[in-house]
Amino acid sequence: MTVTIVGSQLGDEGKGGVVDLYGDAADVVVRYQGGDNAGHTVVHDGEKYKLSLIPSGAVRGKVGVLGNGCVVNPETLFDEIDALRERGLEPDVRVAERAHAIFPYHRVLDGIEEDEKEDLAAGTTKRGIGPTYEDKAGRRGIRIGDMLDPDTLRERLEYVVPQKKALAEEVFGTETGEAFDVEALYETYREYGTRLEEEGMTVDCGTYLQGRIDDGDNVMLEGAQGTSIDIDHGIYPYVTSSNPTAGGACVGTGLGPSAIGQGDVIGIVKAYLSRVGTGPLPTELAGVEGQTPGYDPDSSDEEEELATYIRDEGGEYGTVTGRPRRVGWLDVPMLRHAARASGFTGLAVNHIDVLAGLDEVEVGHAYERNGEELLTMPPTTEKWGECEAVFRTFEGWPDVDWAAVAKEGYAAIPENARTYLEYIESELDVPIYAVGVGPGREETVIVETPYE
Ligand code: GDP
Ligand code: IMO
Ligand code: MG
Repeated sequence: MTVTIVGSQLGDEGKGGVVDLYGDAADVVVRYQGGDNAGHTVVHDGEKYKLSLIPSGAVRGKVGVLGNGCVVNPETLFDEIDALRERGLEPDVRVAERAHAIFPYHRVLDGIEEDEKEDLAAGTTKRGIGPTYEDKAGRRGIRIGDMLDPDTLRERLEYVVPQKKALAEEVFGTETGEAFDVEALYETYREYGTRLEEEGMTVDCGTYLQGRIDDGDNVMLEGAQGTSIDIDHGIYPYVTSSNPTAGGACVGTGLGPSAIGQGDVIGIVKAYLSRVGTGPLPTELAGVEGQTPGYDPDSSDEEEELATYIRDEGGEYGTVTGRPRRVGWLDVPMLRHAARASGFTGLAVNHIDVLAGLDEVEVGHAYERNGEELLTMPPTTEKWGECEAVFRTFEGWPDVDWAAVAKEGYAAIPENARTYLEYIESELDVPIYAVGVGPGREETVIVETPYE
């Protein structure tokens, strides 16, 4: 049996926490797309683990698999494994031989292109994600399996590296160093390849997973990023370069749609919006310089205050940079779009504790564009940018002892918060499986348990 976890908004919805919670019943946790652009938080025994690449289940002794749909930076992979080992854990991580490897030149090119793009820049994580997927589609990528074979690795590098070097030097006019040196890259990646082999880490992903399912094991598919930054279904070009939506779980693992469809597909919803990156955001509150298009420093004090409140309560500041993230009210057309694109069978709504204490909570129920009301996202980002949110107002709920609420169950959630949750449930026509009321694993109200 499988359970698939999908971000329904713009990333950072609290997927890692849900994977951790429901992953207890799983034997294998698989990432099916993205790479070390993710940041999934798991709080275990009061200790916080922030994982950018390896599946969240690795913290709890599950087998973690990086599927063929991932782009894998071996340096990050080994750094994360080593860091977990230093903290006393024994992560068991496998990597699909079909997954593409991120090389140092991908990272360099990601940075160069972002600087070049100006208004079209997505504000990427500069981890080389986009350039690696470009090479995959351009049939010049180098896969994990290629790193195991010296001749193949050398042949691929000799073909691709001179092109990348010319691109960096001649098109973008930058100087290149070791990141574009065939010999240096060959040496480093052969070492990685040898370690992967010695530690028995590589797998034929689809065959491995199907085998585990046939043996009666439970598999959890851990999506990274979110639906609105999906390369096909998101706000192109302000997106990541993979498919976080549930279809990505099939192509990114080698399991068929029927295997994924037999299990639950759980959409993770943050009770408000947060965004790292550029592009429009119809329900945004105030705005952040450098990220909000047409940022207006003179937005109303009231909006600014609300944005700061939500940002502070939710800890919405960049983990590395400390920069404030963009925040906004829940965007329901965005959620309708996500529920359809992935066929959600359940929802986990997180962060309702963050909104506690406000007098009123608003949601963008619909959009208005050219005098027309829309209930879902229009297909182009330009049209989306022209949408005005049509708000609905809910009465706020008090801050309470959320740990006690989690213990008591759904009925203990303050009434106004339940009204808010039930509105989401009925608009999406998808039942609520869990409600996040705090960052800890025990601060979750469990309504339904998958795999049962
Ligand atoms: P992911 O990328 O979707 O896994 O989410 P992140 O880990 O990047 O961001 C979610 C953050 O919110 C983490 O710091 C979590 O510990 C925290 N978090 C998750 N669920 C809740 C919740 O229900 N309430 C609060 N206050 N924090 C939460
Ligand atoms: P998790 O899994 C939030 C955003 C970046 C940028 C765009 C493209 O923690 O939810 P990329 O480096 O992927 O080419 O950047 O996508 N982005 C995320 N935002 N959460 C994430 O992951 C993200 N991964 C990428 O900020 O706007
Ligand atoms: Mg994150």
